[in-house]
Amino acid sequence: MTPMTVLVTGGSSASGVAAARALAAAGHRVFTVGSDDARIKAAAGQAGSAVTPMTCDLASLDSVRGLAADIRTHGIERVDGVIHLVGGWRGAKGIEDQSDEDWESLERGAVTTLRNVSRVFYSQLEASPHGRLAMVSSTAVSSPTAAAASYAAAKAAAETWTMAVADGFRRAQSGNKEQPVEQHSAAVIFVVKALLDPAMRREHPDRRFPGYTDVEELAAAAVGLFDHPAASLNGQRILLAK
Ligand SMILES: NC(=O)c1ccc[n+]([C@@H]2O[C@H](COP(=O)([O-])OP(=O)(O)OC[C@H]3O[C@@H](n4cnc5c(N)ncnc54)[C@H](OP(=O)(O)O)[C@@H]3O)[C@@H](O)[C@H]2O)c1
Repeated sequence: MTPMTVLVTGGSSASGVAAARALAAAGHRVFTVGSDDARIKAAAGQAGSAVTPMTCDLASLDSVRGLAADIRTHGIERVDGVIHLVGGWRGAKGIEDQSDEDWESLERGAVTTLRNVSRVFYSQLEASPHGRLAMVSSTAVSSPTAAAASYAAAKAAAETWTMAVADGFRRAQSGNKEQPVEQHSAAVIFVVKALLDPAMRREHPDRRFPGYTDVEELAAAAVGLFDHPAASLNGQRILLAK
């Protein structure tokens, strides 16, 4: 596979470090993004010297446009992949105490950041011979609990947005009978129940983590996106929960 330029948004969490490290190890040029300069630089240090940290509030469309411009100053004309790892979590006791503050936070983290990143980088992903957009959703979308109603609803909105991006790629790359075009860009949803940081496993060697997905497995799935044909990936909901 030709090396790609991949943006890992939410690169300062354990999943972001694992994804950035695995993508860089696979030979890709990796930019990681977080809202906090110190945290994203420290995480990039853990992910390896080939990873370039960028600071941006992904909840602001203007800031994401600025991020795209900053990436161009690194000599990059086209981002080929976006692995979107921003979401957040808020829960309550049930339906009645789902607060507006929690909803606004989830909408901003899980939906607005995804909308901004995909709107700004859409044309680059669509133009790439191996364009890929991935976001991570939750098993809570198909089996929501009352306690996590806002979280599940925000993730459902993010999934629907991602399916719409997949439709955009499909329509742009469908060609026609006379001039068929091979699909080359794909938007996918990874579905997990919970992510497991290796530090948690080290801290609790005797504990079982049923249904959890190791962050390295998520990272490997992100790398694998560039090894599979776009037509087989586009619009897929890929279950990584055990
Ligand atoms: N963890 C789980 O068990 C679990 C379960 C199901 C689904 N998921 C999904 O999996 C993905 C990864 O989850 P995670 O737990 O590793 O991370 P997360 O807590 O959802 O997101 C944290 C990452 O996003 C960055 N971030 C947050 N707001 C930002 C903003 N406005 N602009 C730029 N960066 C921002 C954070 O860095 P800064 O704070 O430094 O900006 C951090 O790198 C998410 O989509 C999450 O919803 C996770």
